Amino acid sequence: METAEIRRRFLRFFEERGHTVVPSASLLVDDPNLLFVNAGMVPFKPYLLGQQTPPYPRATSVQKCVRTGDIEEVGKTTRHGTFFQMNGNFSFGDYFKARAIELAWELVTKPQSEGGLGFDEARLYPSVFHEDDEAIALWKQIAGMSDDRIPRLGMRDNFWSMGVPGPCGPCSEILFDLGPDYGADGDWTNGDRYMEIWNLVFMQYVRGEGPGKEGYPILGELPARNIDTGMGLERVAYLLQGVDNIYENDEIRPVLERATELSGRKYGVDHDSDVRLRVVADHVRSAMMMVSDGVTPSNEGRGYVLRRIIRRAVNQMRLLGVDESTMPQLLPVSLSRMKLSYPELERDWQRISSVVYAEEETFLGTLKTGTQIFDLAVDETRRDGGAVLAGDKAFQLHDTYGFPIDLTLEMAAERGLAVDEEGFRRLMAEQRQRAKQDAAARKSAHADLSAYRGVADTLGRSVEFTGYDEVVSDAQIAGLIRDGEPATAAHEGDTIELVLDRTPFYAEGGGQLADEGVIELANGARLVVHDVQSPLTGLIVHQAKVLEGEVLLGQPAHALVDIERRRAISRAHTATHMVHKAFREALGETAAQAGSENAPGRFRFDFNATGPVPPSVLAEAEERVNDLLLADLPVTAEVMPINDARDLGALALFGEKYGNEVRVISVGDWARELCGGTHAGRSGQLGVVKLLSESSIGAGVRRVEALVGADAYRFLAREHVLLGQLAEALKARPEELPERVAGIVDRLRVAEKELERIRVQQVLAAAGELAASPKDVFGVSMVARELPEGASAGDLRKLALDVRGRLPSDKPAVVALVGASGGRPSVVVALNDEARNWRLSAGELVKLAAGVLGGGGGGKDDVAQGGGTDPAKADEALRQVEHAVGTRVTSS
Ligand code: ALA
Repeated sequence: METAEIRRRFLRFFEERGHTVVPSASLLVDDPNLLFVNAGMVPFKPYLLGQQTPPYPRATSVQKCVRTGDIEEVGKTTRHGTFFQMNGNFSFGDYFKARAIELAWELVTKPQSEGGLGFDEARLYPSVFHEDDEAIALWKQIAGMSDDRIPRLGMRDNFWSMGVPGPCGPCSEILFDLGPDYGADGDWTNGDRYMEIWNLVFMQYVRGEGPGKEGYPILGELPARNIDTGMGLERVAYLLQGVDNIYENDEIRPVLERATELSGRKYGVDHDSDVRLRVVADHVRSAMMMVSDGVTPSNEGRGYVLRRIIRRAVNQMRLLGVDESTMPQLLPVSLSRMKLSYPELERDWQRISSVVYAEEETFLGTLKTGTQIFDLAVDETRRDGGAVLAGDKAFQLHDTYGFPIDLTLEMAAERGLAVDEEGFRRLMAEQRQRAKQDAAARKSAHADLSAYRGVADTLGRSVEFTGYDEVVSDAQIAGLIRDGEPATAAHEGDTIELVLDRTPFYAEGGGQLADEGVIELANGARLVVHDVQSPLTGLIVHQAKVLEGEVLLGQPAHALVDIERRRAISRAHTATHMVHKAFREALGETAAQAGSENAPGRFRFDFNATGPVPPSVLAEAEERVNDLLLADLPVTAEVMPINDARDLGALALFGEKYGNEVRVISVGDWARELCGGTHAGRSGQLGVVKLLSESSIGAGVRRVEALVGADAYRFLAREHVLLGQLAEALKARPEELPERVAGIVDRLRVAEKELERIRVQQVLAAAGELAASPKDVFGVSMVARELPEGASAGDLRKLALDVRGRLPSDKPAVVALVGASGGRPSVVVALNDEARNWRLSAGELVKLAAGVLGGGGGGKDDVAQGGGTDPAKADEALRQVEHAVGTRVTSS
């Protein structure tokens, strides 16, 4: 049975039994504890916790999930994938244990001819939480299970939570027995033998902080008893398709086969190669799904997870013997399978594929540099007579050049060297430890959300955001937090976090900066608000300082947003939408937004593009936007069902969580985006939009910065004044300035050259003056001089010979000159015959001087020259030459 069919059957089965089918949410979720959605229940968390009223009592979904905690297991076991799909059915205070077990058992065992999945009952075992007698009784009653087929396990295996404070409860897992080839009878926690296919969570408690799967307290009951289940779609497909592991199911295997062809190997012959091929097949699909939801490769957070996955895949192909890029061959194969369930992949293919291909190219470049560094390390090891590449070398390759260790191992083996793997692992562990400490330090500063949760619980609903319609609102103080602890009052001078039951203040989000303003209380107290954040969905927290008076919990308050600032931010936000649209018109749909920041009067906009945007395209986009400002298009906000928004062509931005109802901002009917931000009322209010710069901020991502409204005007006005000053100074009209300046620069260059030539000539002409006053060093006539900058070694030589010729030949004479050209010093020494009779040597003296200058040199006994690196040592070099001359002639 194809994966797509299993998913259809699952959803249909639950739909027919009163469940609302809910589409998969994006992998990127608005939860500070999660990088990616990792279970089907994540989008329903507010319903499970009772924070929001669910729009339906029962739901079913097939949710996209990413888990990378077990990435090292991928390809080695039969069942670990970094991307997977979780089929689930959910009850929010509706049915509970009995119905959940009934439904699951029916679907799993009903024959395929009757719409079920048709698993053989004899191979299924339901594990339960050991204290859950009710579940045990139900399994006996509903499925006719005997006691010995119901393993009773502890918290670690049969109590489920998200790993962080939140909903939790005992669970029951349906295990599939793969048979004695895979492990011992009754070894229930051996997942190779007894593989979990479906987890039924009886979600009725709230857990607190604590480590691991067992070390946390149960804080109490949830407002209602819920059901959350998760059936692994890949696992079920693998079992129903009669293959050996998830990587061979119909969604993943075609990639594995293409990779096998590209590598010229055979699958199923050699274990190591098979693992590599399976890793490639898994990772290619994960990368595609992650990019589809808006992740781009980077060095932190989600972007890092993506980068690692793509690089692992590329590296495995390389270890399979393919050095060229392979993503353009593999990714389309994954698309051909996954688009059946995710048609948006095809719509967005240009963008998705260019992000993945660009990352592969970047990494192949890294590998090339890394290989050169690796070669150097090998040479060095050999030169020192070693046979083991040092651990710190392997670590450096990994850390600085992104060179994976398995690649280092393989390449070292090819060169007959071993690698100090233990040393490498130790350094890696140390680095991880450092990173952990950093993360822990950061976390304790902001990530303790319990005080916020407390306020949210007391309020019992979301804070009402009034700021779309008003900038002044009456409200009540619903929560005060000081230093992360709940508080009941605050006084003059205090810095406090304050929650209102309703507020016009916009919390930073969606690229838009927070509002600022003041909050006034009826008793005369005043606070200034300098930041607004939303640490939990539905909660708006003002960071404020009490200017005067006493602030008490529960008091009425009057909240006033700084309206000028808000207007300037709103104009920037509308401008961002317009520039985004203009770029997509000019560059194609791949120029998707990858991030933005809307501040008062200016914005920054990041987008996907594989190379720089030509200046002509920037100029056109800017002109297009400014034309549409003049058209004074209305800017409207509408809340509508997500499907209607899609039909209208609204752009969905990534990394945001959308409910069924979305807010669509339209600029005329030209630019439409899903957006929760605030905007200008008409495009004409923006005045002017001026793009300032365009640059790269990472592989495949570019950034433009721009000004809006009065800020754009002031910028242009200032440029105008500067231009006027230049024109005045150069006595030219503004349009003549580029040519005029180019002409001046040219003439200046010619004049500088000429000047240098004249100076050198003057130096050379100084021979007479130099020869006129030699110093007597124990009977030797000595001329030792540093010349001004600009004299080449050739000039020095010419001058030295000239001076020597002018000194009397019946007395020993030594001429030593040091000069520098372009910061590189040279030295020349010339002797006459008499000096050589006195056993002096120009070669020796030059060697000495050049040594002082940080270099070397040599030549004959009568003339020699050399060079160095440090012109500041010229004096010292000459002093040493003189000293050497003195020593030599007095010692003979
Ligand atoms: N939320 C449960 C799980 O992820 C079903 O296993």
